[in-house]
Amino acid sequence: MKLVIINDQEVRAETIAKEILSLVKEKPNAVLGLATGSSPIKTYQKVIELAKKDNIDFSNVTSFNLDEYINNPDFTQSYRYFMDTHLFNFINIKKENTHFPSLEGLKTYDEEIKKAGGVDLQLLGIGADGHIGFNEPNTPFDSLTHIADLTEKTIQDNSRFFASIKDVPTQAVTRGRQSIRNAKKIILIATGKNKALAIEKTFGKVNEATPASLLNRHPDATIYCDEEAASLLKK
Ligand code: F6R
Repeated sequence: MKLVIINDQEVRAETIAKEILSLVKEKPNAVLGLATGSSPIKTYQKVIELAKKDNIDFSNVTSFNLDEYINNPDFTQSYRYFMDTHLFNFINIKKENTHFPSLEGLKTYDEEIKKAGGVDLQLLGIGADGHIGFNEPNTPFDSLTHIADLTEKTIQDNSRFFASIKDVPTQAVTRGRQSIRNAKKIILIATGKNKALAIEKTFGKVNEATPASLLNRHPDATIYCDEEAASLLKK
């Protein structure tokens, strides 16, 4: 697992965006695994900016998002809405090529990814408790797409996007640890002190208690973070 520490948010986002765009240039029918949340927002902005500048064609790209809430009464808080408004509406990806896990498609999501050729590049954020997607601590190593109960901590963290904590959905459909590990390349973004403990644990022993520790066993995983998020790592 590689660690890249870049404090400047613009430079960090541009570096990651360039990795995504060079993949799409090289492989126009690339399969992207995408995440929501605050971590990838700047990267998506850079993807939009550079794709426009360099005329990058996303019309044959397919995407599979990591997760989606269940029983969410507010569409503007859905991950589909997030992706439309932060990325998809501003590049020429075809909406029918963008996928989200759902209750109805629970059993077939991993199969669909496989049929598309597998994820070439998976973008991830990380929760303060080490979750990736909605794989909370102690999600089994071999889990595929499944229904996840959100922990109190995650509900609390996500409440910043909702009017009240009571509005935060308590369940989501998420790709599992195994589904994430299957990606050919993984890039995880983590910034701020709030993520320092999770990053320290990610570099520790691979175990079920820290979902992100699966990156340790992955042949091509890179963590992009700032000094704060890396502050508990030994030199
Ligand atoms: C979102 C997702 C989550 C977030 C994580 C970090 O699709 O999969 O695992 O990546 O909760 O969220 P932020 O980036 O908001 O700190």
